[in-house]
Amino acid sequence: MSDTVSVDQTGAATSIPELQVETKDGVRTLRFNRADKKNAITRAMYAAAAHALDSAREDPAVKVFIITGSDGVFSAGNDLMDFMQAPPHVGGGDMPPVEQFMRALAGAEKPVIAAVDGLAIGIGVTLLLHCDLVYASNRSTFKTPFVDLALAPEFGSSQLMPAMLGHAVASELLLLGATWGSDRAYQTGLVGGVFTPETLDEMVWQAAQNLAAKAPGSLKAAKALMKQPPEDLYARISREGEIFAAQLRSPEFAEAAGAFMERRKPDFSKFD
Ligand code: COA
Repeated sequence: MSDTVSVDQTGAATSIPELQVETKDGVRTLRFNRADKKNAITRAMYAAAAHALDSAREDPAVKVFIITGSDGVFSAGNDLMDFMQAPPHVGGGDMPPVEQFMRALAGAEKPVIAAVDGLAIGIGVTLLLHCDLVYASNRSTFKTPFVDLALAPEFGSSQLMPAMLGHAVASELLLLGATWGSDRAYQTGLVGGVFTPETLDEMVWQAAQNLAAKAPGSLKAAKALMKQPPEDLYARISREGEIFAAQLRSPEFAEAAGAFMERRKPDFSKFD
């Protein structure tokens, strides 16, 4: 399977059958669509997903991303045949598609929502750590069997997961290789909300529409601050203060304040 990604005449991302990309109402949805292989992710799918994220960086038509699966499966992780045939060497020179995708995800300036319905394994869990909102259906399961496969945690998960969930809790996934249901995932904070399979998409779409209507510069700034590594608290207060002051002088704030005064909803649609 080719690792290259086709683009349309405007350079926007186009789907491949196994990774469907759709942009609608400010939301670009990336859908794993390889249900016969439990949505195991191939190099071609990573490449397409990386392009779908990167090509939206300067595209005002895309304000939010959704990453989701299909047929009651999120993803069974990296395609194990691919692993054996073309083992990726992340950080080792030529960037493999999986690294292109995970760097595009980790570096996405616009918010990313994950919608997990069904099983999430390996990188299907790792990628959740890089999303901004994670919602799941109540039939979902989560597992990172890296040690069971004699592999190792990947893409920052050995740092992010203990920081987000606590060391002892993260060890259940990363060392024990435990399988969590949605309740445990919610209780630990791996996911932010659990819904029925029938309502998940609607809840996620509402969240995406909610984010898409916000001031994009403010949203990007807030996300960037949250993604910054820990620093001296007073350094952080100063950094936030700089951004806060800049936002106070921005047309976005003028619109927000004007809308408040005029008792109307703000309209940020003209801002990139
Ligand atoms: N890579 C490649 N193919 C995969 C895959 C993966 N990660 N996960 C599932 N598949 C394929 C199976 O080989 C099978 O293909 P086939 O029908 O051509 O034989 C198909 O998907 C269905 O999988 P199957 O194992 O029959 O379904 P199941 O419901 O019994 O089990 C899983 C589903 C996901 C629990 C099981 O397939 C599994 O453990 N997969 C490996 C998960 C994994 O270790 N991921 C990598 C982490 S680094």
